[in-house]
Amino acid sequence: MMINTPFVYGRIADKEDFTDREVEQEQLFRSLSGRVNTVIISPRRWGKTSLVNKVVQRLAADRSIRVCQVDIFNCRTEEHFYQTYAMAVLKANYSVWEDFIRSARKYLGRLLPAVTLSDAAQTYELSFGLDFKDNKMTYDEILDLPQTISRDTGKRIIVCLDEFQNINEYDEPLAFQRKLRSHWQLHTDVCYCLYGSKRHMLLHIFNDYEMPFYKFGDILFLQKIAREEWSRFICRRFADTGKRISAELSGMIADRMKNHPYYTQQLSQQVWFRTPSEATDEIVNAAFHSLIDQLSLLFSNLIDTLTPRQINFLLAVADGVTNFSSREALIRYQLGTSANIKNLKKAALEKDLIDILPGNHIELQDPAFEYWLTNVYSNR
Ligand SMILES: Nc1ncnc2c1ncn2[C@@H]1O[C@H](COP(=O)(O)OP(=O)(O)OP(=O)(O)O)[C@@H](O)[C@H]1O
Ligand SMILES: [Mg+2]
Repeated sequence: MMINTPFVYGRIADKEDFTDREVEQEQLFRSLSGRVNTVIISPRRWGKTSLVNKVVQRLAADRSIRVCQVDIFNCRTEEHFYQTYAMAVLKANYSVWEDFIRSARKYLGRLLPAVTLSDAAQTYELSFGLDFKDNKMTYDEILDLPQTISRDTGKRIIVCLDEFQNINEYDEPLAFQRKLRSHWQLHTDVCYCLYGSKRHMLLHIFNDYEMPFYKFGDILFLQKIAREEWSRFICRRFADTGKRISAELSGMIADRMKNHPYYTQQLSQQVWFRTPSEATDEIVNAAFHSLIDQLSLLFSNLIDTLTPRQINFLLAVADGVTNFSSREALIRYQLGTSANIKNLKKAALEKDLIDILPGNHIELQDPAFEYWLTNVYSNR
C-alpha cells in the first residue's frame, strides 16, 4: 500500500508541501512580469527550484506570457547546453506535437534537426545533425530563439535557467558568458531568471565589474525558512494525517536542522513515521540520531577526501571560530601558519562545504554534517 506521507524532500515542494516564501514569491512575480532579469542564489537544497516553480505557475496563468524552464544540471558541454536549450524553448511555446515539429523545422530547419517521437507519451527528442556541430553561426540562432519566437507569436517569454553555475564547467566559460550576454541584452521581449547554488561563483559572475554579467539584473539571496514557519507547517502536516505534535517539538525539529529546508522536511518525516499518534521528545531525539546514523557513511567518505588541515578548519568553523589567523586558533586547531587560512577557506568553498555570509561570517552548509563532525567524528 502506498502511504501518502506528509513531508517531501529531494523533490519540488508544491501545493500543501510548500510553505512560506510569501515575500519572495511576490518579489519574483513582480520582477519577472515586469521584465526584470533576476538571479536567485542560495546553497543547495534551500528551495530555489520550488520557489521558481511556484511563481511560474502564477505567471503561466497570464495568456500573454510563455514561460520556459530549462534545467542545465546535466549539460556538461556548451554543445549539450544548446540542444537542451533549443528543445526547452520550443517545447514551452508549442505544446501540440504538430506545432512542435513545424516550429522545429521552421526555426531550426537549416540545422537539420532530426526530430523523433520517442514514446506514446509524446516526449520530444531533438537531435542535431553534423551541420550543427560545424556551424558556429547556428548557436547564435538558438540563443536568439526566444526573442524570434516572441516576435512571431506576440507573446512575452520568460526563460528560467536552473543550475546556472554549471556553465562554469564548459571549456571556455568566460567566452560563453560574453556570448550569452551579448545576445540577451538585445532581447527586448524576453526576461531571464537565472538561479543556482555556489554563491561564491555566482557572485563572481554577476557582481564583479569586469565580468560580462555584471549588473545583469536583480539578485535575490534566498534565505532559509524561519523557525516559526516550520513549526506551524509541521504541526499542520501532522494534523492533516491525524497525528499530533506540539509547537515546541516541531520547533525543536527545525532547531536540530538549523531551519535547513531539505533536512527539516526529512527529519519531520522520520519523526512522523515513528509517531503512533502524538510525537514526544524521545521520538524526536531517536529520529534525529537515526538520521545522523544513516548519513554517517556519506560523511565518512567525504572526510576521506579532505586533508587533516582541511578537517581541522571545518572543526574550527563548526566551533564558531571567527578569527582563524589568531595564534590561539592556529595552535588549538593545528591549522599551520596564518598563510594557510586563505587556501583552506578556498578549498572548503569550492567543495561547497562552507558558505561565507555577509559580514564575512562563515558557516558549514550542512547542519547534519556539522553535528556529525563535532559530536561523532571528533569523539572517535
Ligand atoms: N517552500 C518550501 N516549503 C517547504 N519545503 C521546502 C520549500 N522549499 C524547499 N523545501 C524543501 O527543500 C527541498 C529542496 O528544495 P529545492 O529542490 O526547491 O531546492 P534547491 O535550492 O533548488 O536545491 P538544489 O540547489 O539542490 O537544486 C525540497 O525537497 C523540500 O524538502
Ligand atoms: Mg534546484
